[in-house]
Formats: sequence, structure tokens, C-alpha cells
Amino acid sequence: MSLHGKAAVVTGAAAGIGKAIVEILLQNGAKAAILDLNKAAGESLKEEMNKQYGSEKTLFLECDVASEEQLKAAFEKAAGAFGGVDIMCNNAGVMDEAAWEKTVTINLMGVIRGSYLALEHMNKLSGGRGGVVVNMASLAGLRPVITSPVYSATKHGVVGFTRAMAAASTALGYGLRFNTICPGFVQTEMIYNLSSKLGRYFHLTEESSQLRERIGVINVSEVAECLLELVTDETRNGEALLVFQKGRKYVTFPSFSE
Ligand SMILES: NC(=O)c1ccc[n+]([C@@H]2O[C@H](COP(=O)([O-])OP(=O)(O)OC[C@H]3O[C@@H](n4cnc5c(N)ncnc54)[C@H](O)[C@@H]3O)[C@@H](O)[C@H]2O)c1
Repeated sequence: MSLHGKAAVVTGAAAGIGKAIVEILLQNGAKAAILDLNKAAGESLKEEMNKQYGSEKTLFLECDVASEEQLKAAFEKAAGAFGGVDIMCNNAGVMDEAAWEKTVTINLMGVIRGSYLALEHMNKLSGGRGGVVVNMASLAGLRPVITSPVYSATKHGVVGFTRAMAAASTALGYGLRFNTICPGFVQTEMIYNLSSKLGRYFHLTEESSQLRERIGVINVSEVAECLLELVTDETRNGEALLVFQKGRKYVTFPSFSE
């Protein structure tokens, strides 16, 4: 699928991985709505993108993915301004083991909410034009991370939800593809000062540092490349694309069909 003229909505897009995703989408000819809690960072990214690509290519919409009302309003505003949405990237996420309910609300409920909004709008069975949803999971969605069980649970949830949606879409003919990206450690704000985010497991910070040493830290652009691949390669549906310093790899899950 060519991105030229396509419209995207990206959550948690004002900084870190989301920002790199907005940049790669615009570089490849798409328009992008930046949805984020952080108004100052969102507006500043919009200004930066305006200079490079023209003011009609991006929108900033202040929005908390934890709020059904705010996410729905922002999605509808983006769809109205761009004349539809073709790509939904549910990227917003936090790591906060102490405020674990908030972590579940943002990381898992926010992704489900954003995916269902995309489905409502893009489902070919109800007059939509189809498209692709990419949800941000993590390596922590594929293996247990002992310093952050709740974060791990939410990311396993994102992988499971997205794969089930992909299968439902194929079975029912929604005309939508659903994929996840599972990055290892990525150089963003999220991995700074990790011990303060580990709640009751703060004393295991050293374990987390050792894992980081073993698997390395990648740049946001490497994650954005994964997004590009999953959006443009129309054969990809129900995938979990793992990316860390050793490279990218599509995850093979056990099959229960035999
Ligand atoms: N950084 C990593 O090592 C890493 C690894 C694997 C997966 N991830 C995932 O990638 C995604 C992006 O993480 P990042 O590293 O870029 O984080 P980040 O903290 O650098 O940026 C997150 C962005 O999301 C926004 N945000 C936070 N809560 C929000 C909410 N409720 N509603 C709307 N926006 C909100 C923040 O304002 C910020 O702009 C997350 O889902 C994270 O779990 C990150």
C-alpha cells in the first residue's frame, strides 16, 4: 500500500516513538494527526512538521487515551479534517508499576478503545474504506519482565487482542489489518530513571539494567521503520514484529490448528 495521500491517527505522538512514527508517515506522503496529552510538545511537533511538509499535513489534537470521550472526539476531528482515516497507530503507553490501574487503563484499555474506534470508522462492512491498525506492544508482551508485571500484562494483552482482532477481521471481512510492534529497549524518556517507575519492584532495577545490557537499546527510527513495513506490506495481518538490537523478526506463535 502506498502512503501517498493516506491519513493516519497516532496516539502518544508528541514525543519518543510516536514522534518518529509521525515523521516517517509524513516522509512517505501521508497526513498524520498527532494525539497526545502533552500540548506543548504536540504543538511544537506540529510546527516543526508544518515547516517541512506544509500546514495541511498534520493536526495536533490534545487527548488522553484513557478518556473514551476525548479519544472519540479527536479521532472524529481527524477523520473530518482529512476526509477519512486509513491508518490508526495506538502507540500511547506508560510504565508505572505503582499506579498499576492507570497503566492498565492507558496501555490496554486505550489500545482497545482506539482499535474499536478505528473499526467503527474503517470497517468495509459498514461503508468504511478499510485500512490498517498498528498497536504498540513490547518485548514485555512476549516474555515476562520481572521488574514490571503489570506493564508485561498490558503488553501481552495488546498482542493477544490485536491477533484476535486480525483473525476476526479475516473471518468476518472487515477489510482491516491488525498488527503489533514489539520493541526491546528504545532510547526515549520511558527508559530514563526506570527505578522510579517500578513500584514494589524498584529494588530489582539491577535486573532491568542487566537485561538492557544483554539486548541493547535501539533508536526510535528503527521502530518507525517497523510501522512503515507493517502498514505498506498488505500481506501482514495478525503479526507481532519484534525489534531489538539484533534486528527485526516476525514472531512465530504456537498453532493449534492440527
Ligand atoms: N521506550 C521503550 O523502551 C519502549 C519499548 C517497548 C515498547 N514501548 C512502547 O512504545 C510506546 C511509546 O513509548 P515511548 O518510549 O515513546 O514513551 P515516551 O514516554 O517517550 O512517550 C510517550 C508519549 O505518550 C504520551 N502519553 C502518555 N500517556 C498518554 C495518554 N494517556 N494519552 C495520550 N498520550 C499519552 C506522552 O505525553 C508522550 O508524548 C508505549 O506504548 C511504550 O510502552 C516503549
